[in-house]
Amino acid sequence: MSNKMWGGRFAEKPAAIMQEINASVGFDYKLAAQDIAGSLAHVEMLAQTGLVSREDAEAISRGLAEIRGEIESGAFTFSPELEDIHMNIESRLAAKIGAAAGRLHTARSRNDQVAVDFRLWVRDTIDHLDAQLRDLQQALAEKAVEHAGSLMPGFTHLQTAQPVTFGHHLLAYVEMFSRDRSRFCDARARLNECPLGAAALAGTSFPIDREATAKALGFDRPTANSLDSVADRDFVLEPLADAAICAVHLSRFAEEIVLWTTAQFGFVRLTDQFSTGSSIMPQKRNPDAAELVRGKSGRVIGALAGLLIVMKGLPLAYSKDMQEDKEGAFDALQTLSLSIAAMAGMVRDLEPDLKKMKAAAGDGYATATDLADWLVRELKMPFREAHHVTGRLVALASDRKIGLQKLSLNELQSVEPRITKEIYDVLGVENSVKSRTSYGGTAPKNVRAQAKRWLSRLAKEKPAT
Ligand code: ARG
Repeated sequence: MSNKMWGGRFAEKPAAIMQEINASVGFDYKLAAQDIAGSLAHVEMLAQTGLVSREDAEAISRGLAEIRGEIESGAFTFSPELEDIHMNIESRLAAKIGAAAGRLHTARSRNDQVAVDFRLWVRDTIDHLDAQLRDLQQALAEKAVEHAGSLMPGFTHLQTAQPVTFGHHLLAYVEMFSRDRSRFCDARARLNECPLGAAALAGTSFPIDREATAKALGFDRPTANSLDSVADRDFVLEPLADAAICAVHLSRFAEEIVLWTTAQFGFVRLTDQFSTGSSIMPQKRNPDAAELVRGKSGRVIGALAGLLIVMKGLPLAYSKDMQEDKEGAFDALQTLSLSIAAMAGMVRDLEPDLKKMKAAAGDGYATATDLADWLVRELKMPFREAHHVTGRLVALASDRKIGLQKLSLNELQSVEPRITKEIYDVLGVENSVKSRTSYGGTAPKNVRAQAKRWLSRLAKEKPAT
């Protein structure tokens, strides 16, 4: 038998391999809830506009609600012969209510149907990711308040640069995740237009009410061009780009956790809950979750590249290539969700070794810039000259294998006679961070204020679901 949904002009069944390459229900079953929501809105509009009788519309709606129950309970059988989720549901509806089921597809095509379903799915997913990112920011900001004054080395080129506070470092990620959230929010606002009613590509001759379906599905308005409605997938690409950027932020933080938990750094410890052992080396505690967050970013970035490539050569309007929009996006956004959750878990779990971080903050002449700034401020030396003098002092300390604060006043004066003992005030790491009071700087009082500002801002939002 040919396909019962579209087989009117076909005498033969498709080849098995044809069916295999064509069927999408193996993955687009994930759109079931959205497909039913879209159909309920559509049939209600068809009844309102008199395109379908109230009686048929009620039978269709009841049938769809029952199917939703079957899918939720696991009783529904998905069948690859019926190609995709849309035809699986419609065929089940026909089995339940008979010929009236065929009226549901009036003034609609699978092309606008899949576009509306997928937009709804992406929108729901963005809302979920936003709540998760909020929770991650909360975990970071709480740790940042606690560690507003905890010293650690700041790095450039992964070489000790200047002392910072651990809280300041954590708040850097709160800022990044805030921009990630605002990117997702922008994408959500742009995607929130309803393509239902664009039909196959040209719109429809039936007097439908697109405003009504858009409103019923929580969209801001109907899309304005029927070709664009079924032909573009930027509503997936843009969130994937946002996801890729967010995954890169997570990956960089994960990389830091990997570094910090090494014996060589020893800045933080993850408890047993977030560490794994080695089957051969009994001493090991591996930060697998952090490594996986770092590794999984590859899949997220790959999904964006994959869909860009699918789309780049397609003429308007719909082509079946576009069925390839789903698996990568499902995987990437679910992977991101898992990564955010794992990161929030690690942030709450990690215990910094404050002694070790403080000692490292003082290593590597991290206060050399403070010394140079002192020469500028107190001796009115031009910065370039101060940089040079400091360089000579660092060389002297380095020859003697001691820190800058361990040089005697005589030794300091052998390079620059005008130096006084007041210079020792800026050579300690505590004084160094305390002095960084410029807006956005690492001074503990700045960090505490910023962390508290974040906590009160986050408290005003709705909590994670
Ligand atoms: N399963 C299809 C997809 O995901 C639905 C749209 C099919 N439309 C068509 N004209 N063949 O893209």
